[in-house]
This record gives sequence, structure tokens and C-alpha cells, in this order.
Amino acid sequence: MIIKTLVENTSVSHDYKNEHGLSLYIETGKHRILVDTGASGAFAENAVKMGVDLTGVELVVISHGHYDHGGGLKTFLSINDKAKIYFSGQAFERHYAVSPFGGKRYVGLDPTLLPNDRFVFVGKYLQLGQGLELFSHVKAERFVPASNAYLFRESDGALTPDVFDHEQNLIIEEDGQTVLVTGCAHKGIVNILEHVRRLKGYLPSHVVGGFHLHNPSAFTNEDPATAEVGAYLRSTGAQCYTGHCTGLDSYQKLKSIVGDNMDYLSGGRQITI
Ligand SMILES: [Fe+2]
Ligand SMILES: [Fe+2]
Repeated sequence: MIIKTLVENTSVSHDYKNEHGLSLYIETGKHRILVDTGASGAFAENAVKMGVDLTGVELVVISHGHYDHGGGLKTFLSINDKAKIYFSGQAFERHYAVSPFGGKRYVGLDPTLLPNDRFVFVGKYLQLGQGLELFSHVKAERFVPASNAYLFRESDGALTPDVFDHEQNLIIEEDGQTVLVTGCAHKGIVNILEHVRRLKGYLPSHVVGGFHLHNPSAFTNEDPATAEVGAYLRSTGAQCYTGHCTGLDSYQKLKSIVGDNMDYLSGGRQITI
């Protein structure tokens, strides 16, 4: 399996655009998958430079209803005319970030993209094909990002705390490996992994995506939770590739705890599993 980071907050060189967002292209023996589209069309520009043909993507998973993961959808739809796009059922709810310094801003998906007969809205669980599973509605039990307190959903004209049931995660199984792909892990990466343990009876061999240990609204890190999350991740033995909302400071802390099993996913990077 090959995973290419099409866009992330950083990039491996100035040849690639970077932005606050995430987009991963994943090629398995059977599937060509796009997980998230970043915040803009930058993922598509980087894809050309990385030799990724987006017209060949068969399915897209949008991890959750935030602009930094679905902001490039309009660009994707203009390039690719066949792939189905899988969202969790609540992905197009109106989502807001409220700044601790005052003011709110819309951070949801573009509602003008609706309706679209290529969009598929998923419930709590879906087997997408052999070795591909989507799940959401993870129980937020421990090490839930404190920054979720700044994130809201609008219902009946009022803002209520976002409970992130619009967040889904992807499991890919191939050649004896189990890869968990997260978007932002707003439900908490430990809770998402424990959900996989209950679902499959075992933990993944690889974890790829954002772990949300940085708060972009308050410019703070999840401390001391990051150290405890790091100890948990180390105990799983899983190889982790993270970036985006994990935050660079929190990544360094995770790296100091987890060691070789923790690596960074910059834009322009390719990994082979
Ligand atoms: Fe998010
Ligand atoms: Fe994000």
C-alpha cells in the first residue's frame, strides 16, 4: 500500500503547497482512494507534482464536516467525474469555531455542493468493499481534545457543542496489515483506537492521520494529555504517521515518547506500508 500526503500544514519542500488542511491519496492492490481534500485546490496541484492521477480515484472519504478536510471538494468534482464521495450523515451540518478571543467563524463544508448524486451519506458503520470499512459515533471516553470546547454545530438557529458524530474513520486491511486512517481525531485518538479494538478484536498495525493535540483557535497544545496519549500509542506497538492538527510541538512530544514508531506526514511525502 502506498500513501501520498497531497497536502498538509507543512511540506517536504517549497515545490509543494502547504495549508491548514489534510489530504491523503492511498493506493492499495485493489483501490485508489482519496481521504480528504484539504482546504482548497492545493491538494490537486500537489497531486500533479507527485504523479497522482486524480481522474483514477474510485472513492473519496471525507473524514468530517470541516473546511480543512472538504474545502477542495469543488476542485475534485471538476477533475474526477466518477468517484463516489462518502460522508458521515451529519457532515453538512453547519459547523462553527468560536474564538476564545471573541467572534465565530464558519468552519463547515460548502452547502452549495448539495445535492449531488455522487455523495453517499454513511451511518455508524459501512463495509465499503473487501478490506475497507468506515465507522463513526465513537464514544468520547478519555483524552478528548480540550479544543473541541471551541467547536459548535448549528441546529434550529442555535449553537450547541459539536459532539463530532460527523467524524468517520477508515480501516484498510491488506496483506495482513490493518491501517486506521483518521482525519482530525476530534473524538480522541485513544477512543478511536479502542473502538477499532472492539470492532475488530485487535488494534491496527498502522495509524495514519491527525491526532488533534493542538488547538488552532487558542494556539495551545493538549498538555499534559499529549504525554498520556503518547504512552498509550507506544503501548499499542502501532506504527504512527501523523501531522496536521496534531501540531508540531505535540508531535515532538509524541516522538520523544513513541520513538521510531512515530513519524510525520508532510505534504509531498510518500510512505509504503
Ligand atoms: Fe476538524
Ligand atoms: Fe482538521
